[in-house]
Amino acid sequence: PKIHKHEFVIQATKVKRLCKTHNSITVNGQYPGPTLEVNNGDTLVVKVTNKARYNATIHWHGIRQMRTGWADGPEFVTQCPIRPGGSYTYRFTIQGQEGTLWWHAHSSWLRATVYGALIIHPKQGDSYPFTKPKRETAILLGEWWDANPIDVVRQATRTGAAPNVSDAYTINGQPGDLYNCSSKDTVIVPIDVGETNLLRVINAALNQPLFFSVANHKLTVVSADASYTKPFTTTVLMLGPGQTTDVLITGDQPPARYYLAASAYFSAQNAAFDNTTTTAILEYRSAPCSPNCKNGPTVKPIMPQLPAFNDTNTASAFTRSFRSPRKVEVPTEIDENLFFTVGLGLNNCPNNFRARRCQGPNGTRFTASMNNVSFVFPTISILQAYQQNIPGVFTADFPANPPLTFDYTGNVSRSLWQPTPGTRGYKLKYGSRVQIVLQDTSIVTPENHPIHLHGYDFYILAEGFGNFNAQNDPKKFNLVDPPMRNTVAVPVNGWAVIRFVADNPGVWLMHCHLDVHITWGLAMVFLVDNGVGALQSIEPPPADLPLC
Ligand code: C2O
Repeated sequence: PKIHKHEFVIQATKVKRLCKTHNSITVNGQYPGPTLEVNNGDTLVVKVTNKARYNATIHWHGIRQMRTGWADGPEFVTQCPIRPGGSYTYRFTIQGQEGTLWWHAHSSWLRATVYGALIIHPKQGDSYPFTKPKRETAILLGEWWDANPIDVVRQATRTGAAPNVSDAYTINGQPGDLYNCSSKDTVIVPIDVGETNLLRVINAALNQPLFFSVANHKLTVVSADASYTKPFTTTVLMLGPGQTTDVLITGDQPPARYYLAASAYFSAQNAAFDNTTTTAILEYRSAPCSPNCKNGPTVKPIMPQLPAFNDTNTASAFTRSFRSPRKVEVPTEIDENLFFTVGLGLNNCPNNFRARRCQGPNGTRFTASMNNVSFVFPTISILQAYQQNIPGVFTADFPANPPLTFDYTGNVSRSLWQPTPGTRGYKLKYGSRVQIVLQDTSIVTPENHPIHLHGYDFYILAEGFGNFNAQNDPKKFNLVDPPMRNTVAVPVNGWAVIRFVADNPGVWLMHCHLDVHITWGLAMVFLVDNGVGALQSIEPPPADLPLC
C-alpha cells in the first residue's frame, strides 16, 4: 500500500460563470477541486491550509475512518474549524472500500465550491468485478450561485426565510450550453465506437437531488457510494446530494454528440425546472465535423428525455433496483430499534424578535429536525468533549422514537411543527446491531431527504411510501442482498430502513445532505464507545488538531 501526500490550500480565486466573475473559495485555485486517486488499502495524508477569510474543514465523504475519527472533518463534531491562517493534516487509511467517493468542506455552505472526487481503485493487483473500462471520467454534479453562498445562508439564517436557490446546476463546475455565456466551456466526455467507459457520477449539489441521463445510451450501474452493486441497466439515475453512482456506458450509437444532462428531482420550492438543466457532451471522436475539423466535431448534440421534477415513480424505480452483488451478512437480530422522523418545521417567532427575522411562511422561521429535535452545533467538538469528559457540550438523551406516533402526511398538530433545539446525541454500545427507520414527516413540504451517516456504511433493507407499518413492512425487508450505501434517499412522503453494526468507535454525525436542512437542524450524532465505555481506543487527537 502507498502513502499519498497532498497539500490543499483553501483560498479565494476568481471564477467566471454565467457571464460574471466572482471571488470564489477553492482548493488550490481549482473549481471543482483536485481529484484524489488511491487504491484500496492506501493511506492519504492531506495537509489543509486555510488562506480564505472563512472557517473551514474538509470531510472525506463515505470514508469509514475506522478509529481515525479525528480526520472525519465535520466542524464542531470531530474538530474545531481550521481558522483563517491555520492548517490541519488529515491522515487516514482506506480499508476495504473501492469505487467513487468525494471530499468536501464541512463548514457552513463552503462546500458549494470546495469539493472534489476521491477515486478508490481496487487493491494493488486486484481488478474490477466488471469489464475493464477503456476510459474513466468523474462527473461531479453541482450548483452555482451568482451570490456568495456563505452570504446566501447567512441571509436565510438572519431572516428565517428559505435561502435563495442556485443560479445554475453544473457538471464538473460548468453549467453547460443551455446557460448564458457557458457554451464554449461545456465539458466534453470523449468516447470511441465500441468502447466501454466508466462514468463516476457524484451529486455534489448543495440542496438538490438530481436526475441524470445520457441521450440514446443505456447506463449499467456497477457501484454506488464505493460499494459494488449487482449490475443493472437503466436510462436515468437519481442521486441525492452525497450519493455517488458508477455506470458503464458503451459507444454503441451512431458517431455523433449526445448530451449528458442533469435536472432537478423535487426541490424545496416545488417548482418545475426551467432552464435548470446542466449539460456536458458525450462526443464520439469520429463524429462528423464538416465543414472544418479543426475544432473537433460540430454536430448539434442530441438531448435526453429527463423525467419531470416530481416524477417520484422514476426515482423510486431506480433506487429500488439496487442489490449487493451477492448474498451479504445483514444482522438478523437487532439490539437497537430506532425510529427517526426527518422533516422540516416552522417555528413561531418570539415576541421580542424583530419582524425582519421572521420572514418564513406567515411570520414564522424555517426549522428542521429529527424526532422533533433540531440539532444545534456546539462551540467545541463533540468528539473532544466525549473523549475528555468535558461537560456541558452535549447531552446523550436524543429520543430513540418520535414524541408520539402520528400520521406522516404533514397533517399533524402544530406542536410537532416546532421542534426543540438541542445538541443531543444517542449512545450506541460498541458492536451493537442497529436498525433505523427513517420517516419523512412531510411537514411544510414533502421532500426527498438524502440521509448520510458518517463513519459507517449501512444496508438499505426497504423503502416505501406513506407511514412505515411496523407489522407489515418488515416482511418486505431484503435480508439477502440489500445494497450498501452511506447515504439513503428517503422517499418523498415515505420511509426507508437501514441496518449497520456499530463497530467504529467515535462521534458520528447523521444528517440530511441538503445543506439548507443541516443549517435548520436536520441532524443528530451517534456516540459509539469502544466497548469499555470510553474512547481510549481512538488515537489521541493529533497535535495539530484545531482547537476552539
Ligand atoms: Cu458529505 Cu456530513 O457530509
